[in-house]
Amino acid sequence: MAANAHLTYHSDRAITVGQFQPNMGYKPNYSYAGPDIDEFQTFLRNCPMRGSLIDIGIPGWLRREDALKLYELARFAEGDILEFGTNEGLSAYILAKAVANSGRKAEIVSMELSPEISAAAHKNLTARGVDGTIRLEVGDADATCQRLVDSNRKFGFSFIDHSHAYEHVVKACHRLKQLIEPGSFCVFHDFNDKRNSRRTGLGETRNEYGIIAGIEDSLDINLFEFVGIYGCCGVFRRKDI
Ligand SMILES: C[S@@+](CC[C@H](N)C(=O)[O-])C[C@H]1O[C@@H](n2cnc3c(N)ncnc32)[C@H](O)[C@@H]1O
Repeated sequence: MAANAHLTYHSDRAITVGQFQPNMGYKPNYSYAGPDIDEFQTFLRNCPMRGSLIDIGIPGWLRREDALKLYELARFAEGDILEFGTNEGLSAYILAKAVANSGRKAEIVSMELSPEISAAAHKNLTARGVDGTIRLEVGDADATCQRLVDSNRKFGFSFIDHSHAYEHVVKACHRLKQLIEPGSFCVFHDFNDKRNSRRTGLGETRNEYGIIAGIEDSLDINLFEFVGIYGCCGVFRRKDI
């Protein structure tokens, strides 16, 4: 465990391809008084489950540990938020609650390949009154990122949860270098998953993920440092330099 300013890292939780750490519970990186940051984090700690996944009325695949970590890091982030993979808006809803409860003004840009799925997210987010802070972008994430780069956008937090395919993760890592501000956290979903494999160039399959391999090959370690594993999420942070 190492501390960076007021942050606590859990870098002893590192893994490589072929490794998996079971029971990686939630631990905070920020310091805050009390067991939870606020009532919404308490809600996430106690909300209904469907098997190992939270069930708060929007379909999705977040474990409780993932949801608690996303909420914490988005709650204390500075600046706008970039999400790879909207699906039906479960994580976008949690990110929007984090921004709203922090009292700051920030935009969440969430990217989704499928227009139909993005429309479902829009419906879910509008029904919960959080659509005002979220911009839903439809199309391939890499093409959307190019437009964001072209318009000089920068972000203070990112959740990467669009594709399990090595080549898409590689592209996302290059985009993070262009779009993420120093000091910002990046959360990779499905990092701590037995299905991660070292076979490069594999397309998205149910049984083989290229997330760890993509990060190992393309996330610039001069700029990004490993923070820890929480649930199935691998957390990295862009160094302050
Ligand atoms: C695991 S789901 C996202 C779940 C969401 N983050 C949540 O927690 O509620 C992945 C989504 O990414 C989308 N996707 C897959 N490849 C993509 C790509 N290249 N660009 C943008 N979205 C993509 C899929 O259509 C799918 O809806």
